Amino acid sequence: MKHIRNFCIIAHIDHGKSTLADRLLDATQTVTAREQQAQLLDNMDLERERGITIKSHAIQMDYIHNGEQYTLNLIDTPGHVDFSYEVSRSIAACEGALLIVDAAQSIQAQTISNLYLALENDLEIIPVLNKIDLPSANPEEVSDDIVDLLGCEYEDIIPASGKTGLGVDKILEAIINRIPPPKGVEDEPLQALIFDSVYNPFRGIEVIFRVTNGTIKKGQKIKFMATGKEYFADEIGTLKLNQVPKQEIKTGDVGYLISGIKEAREVKVGDTITDAKEPTKNMIGGFENVKPMVFAGIYPVDTEDYEELRNSMEKLQLNDASLVFLPESSAALGFGFRCGFLGMLHMEIIQERLEREFDMTVITTVPNVSYFAYSKKEPEVPIVVNNPSDLPEPSRMDHVEEPYIKATIITKSDFVGQVMSLCIEKRGLITNQTYLTPERVELTFDMPLAEIVFDFYDRLKTVSKGYASFDYSPIGMRTSNLVKVDILLNGQIVDALSALIHVDNAHNIGKKMCEKLKELIPRQQFDIPIQAAIGVKVISRETIKALRKDVTAKCYGGDISRKRKLLEKQKKGKKRMRQVGNVEIPQEAFMAVLKLN
Ligand code: GTP
Repeated sequence: MKHIRNFCIIAHIDHGKSTLADRLLDATQTVTAREQQAQLLDNMDLERERGITIKSHAIQMDYIHNGEQYTLNLIDTPGHVDFSYEVSRSIAACEGALLIVDAAQSIQAQTISNLYLALENDLEIIPVLNKIDLPSANPEEVSDDIVDLLGCEYEDIIPASGKTGLGVDKILEAIINRIPPPKGVEDEPLQALIFDSVYNPFRGIEVIFRVTNGTIKKGQKIKFMATGKEYFADEIGTLKLNQVPKQEIKTGDVGYLISGIKEAREVKVGDTITDAKEPTKNMIGGFENVKPMVFAGIYPVDTEDYEELRNSMEKLQLNDASLVFLPESSAALGFGFRCGFLGMLHMEIIQERLEREFDMTVITTVPNVSYFAYSKKEPEVPIVVNNPSDLPEPSRMDHVEEPYIKATIITKSDFVGQVMSLCIEKRGLITNQTYLTPERVELTFDMPLAEIVFDFYDRLKTVSKGYASFDYSPIGMRTSNLVKVDILLNGQIVDALSALIHVDNAHNIGKKMCEKLKELIPRQQFDIPIQAAIGVKVISRETIKALRKDVTAKCYGGDISRKRKLLEKQKKGKKRMRQVGNVEIPQEAFMAVLKLN
């Protein structure tokens, strides 16, 4: 045990975590030259394309220091707020963390939020000043920031570059010398923390765990404490670049487990594995069931594909337990599913996976958060509203609550004014303002989740010219004066376009919605009135004028390859259209409410 070190890397997005992890793998010869490939840890196609780490993984390295062999378990953590629960469980499996700070960008919101998580778990922090090869690097100033933040000494900071490999040996030495070996008692009953799971279509779910006490043995009958389910440990092993089967994994070490589990739902990140016959009395603390934050309807473009869509979603759920869905029907779109996601990125990933892996073409409706409605009859019992159409009649309703978050924004002092205006426009209440340095300010706001899950981040980047970072955590439900704004096309309500909006913004948003839809919905052979309404009261109106002439006419006589391209493009565009009544609505229209600025 004294030769094991468990650590993670925490950093703000793009500060170079994955690149530095690759350098550590090279330096410990965990990967042979043949296996080398940029950003090894990001092995899902989607991750590679987006250049972000979506799921956490673990990898074990062997390292010889002063003639002694050490086992280093690097636990990778996802970098996006949607996946912050997974970050917290990965951190709980470590004794130390490399805190990577980009020498040009300095400390950002996620540097701080992840650091707090690490400190809560008593991790030893090794500050790394990364990307010092960059011409724009500002090592002195950023070192000052790090010292201010951590209260450490300047000598504790390791200057490094994931690009040139500078500082990698120093980092490895610091991992051995500064991070304590795991504590734990080998002859206690088995107690292991599940911090990740991976779906393998041939072998079922692979559970990634860290043993806190006791030993897990191949063939042992084990129990997952939160779900109460029992399994046999058919295969256990350590995670090098590939899996290496072992007979046992001892206290302090990290490994994988395969036991014929077919569904991701059975494995809860944060759960404790113990021996079925001689269980530990204590579950490892911090377990939570992850709750979806954003909901949207997913409907097949072709109504005949409903069953196939259901099959595809079930398969997706096998390897992504955080996706939840229930059948729903919409007057406008027919049969589909109301799905819950961890956040907007998660929603995009699911939509993309449905299209890529399952060849489904789907329409995603306006995303919304989860509201609580209280009826006059039973004002104590909340009715969970995951779809605006499910909101009870205003006359029967006592009040509505919506989820709030604490938002933390770090920005340059030049942009404080703009950032504040944006947050106030988004119904934020400022709760704190701290100057971290004369140039850098930390602002905190209480804000409705609904206002930030959608386009907030893009707007923030724009108003701060990129110099703002942002993080958030939920702080519970608060009463809000919300109304349902409906959209009528050709006199008919399109339920999939309804949204719950704060009463003060309802008129403005209704008006902008109509204008936006007028832009997005293609003209047809007849006039299409677009109306926004609250109840029976119409608050805004636009008309899409009927088509006068044949728009394809200008194709004829043109260059043949261009014409073909245009037709291809139209075919593609066509795929994401839904016929509602006699109006064709493109996918973008369902997202219009999110992009009204
Ligand atoms: P997420 O996984 O999305 O959180 O990002 P990350 O923190 O893992 O960052 P990543 O390693 O993907 O690096 C982000 C970008 O910075 C990439 O374009 C890297 O090539 C670049 N980069 C990383 N390290 C260095 C460095 O030391 N010097 C320079 N110049 N560029 C670097």
